[in-house]
Amino acid sequence: MLSYRHGFHAGSHADVLKHAVCAFVARYLQQKDAPILFLDTHAGPGLYDLGSPEAEKTGEYREGIGRLMPHAADAPALLSDYLEMVRSLNGDGGLHTYPGSPWLIMALMREQDRAVFHELHPTDEASLSALARRRHRVHVDKSDGLRGLIAHMPPPERRALCLIDPSYEIKTDYALVAAAVARAWKKFPGGTYIWWYPVIDRARVRAMEVAMRAAGIRKTYRVELCMSPDTPERGMTGSGLFVLNPPFTFPDAATAALPWLADKLGAAGPLTAGWLLPE
Ligand SMILES: C[S@@+](CC[C@H](N)C(=O)[O-])C[C@H]1O[C@@H](n2cnc3c(N)ncnc32)[C@H](O)[C@@H]1O
Repeated sequence: MLSYRHGFHAGSHADVLKHAVCAFVARYLQQKDAPILFLDTHAGPGLYDLGSPEAEKTGEYREGIGRLMPHAADAPALLSDYLEMVRSLNGDGGLHTYPGSPWLIMALMREQDRAVFHELHPTDEASLSALARRRHRVHVDKSDGLRGLIAHMPPPERRALCLIDPSYEIKTDYALVAAAVARAWKKFPGGTYIWWYPVIDRARVRAMEVAMRAAGIRKTYRVELCMSPDTPERGMTGSGLFVLNPPFTFPDAATAALPWLADKLGAAGPLTAGWLLPE
């Protein structure tokens, strides 16, 4: 159906959490020279104009990245690389452009790394292809990202950072995503997977947790940042990430960063940082 456009939500509190974690985990994995496959299952266009009608309509970036940039110098370790990348994209003091996950990944990649970006929306795929043109070892794939996730595991590099960032447009997406992650993990249990989810209906998040347990997935840390308490009414109150095989430094970094983030973003909902599934 593809009615979702991320341009309305770029730079929101959910993006901030997701992108900071991606950058932190990538930098950790890059401490070893061995090459990494970056796989982005739902990549979007890669770069967002914060002056666009979409961004202006919701103003979500003002409540997200807009609130953090003035405090970037004091940011905890989880956020420092990410905020520095946003600053470098905008120049000192400004905030007119926001990096999507593919832009961040391309900025993080080393000579030996490789990236595969899946994006189905024709307009976003065209924007992303233009952004990635002339980039070495970057492939934009206009096909389903969940199939791509399964197909690419295990990668020849034997090291992978996979971002799973669907828009969950229909209720059945939750089960489909959980099944795809489980299949990918079974094919490559040593990979690092960052799996984003919205908190709209807590029962759907719980169902994904049940699916992970049933699949035998281990070593999963969860970080969740909610702007307001769970509610039976419609609307997203927060978001979270399941991080499968996180760096050993991640729990401490996430625990330290969440209160800082909540304070700067004015979040008034639950904050969670903890192991969901043990080793
Ligand atoms: C939440 S946005 C991605 C944002 C991006 N990961 C970022 O952080 O900048 C989800 C994207 O997935 C795309 N999409 C939807 N279904 C897809 C599918 N089955 N495979 C690949 N992309 C899909 C949408 O067009 C949308 O651009």
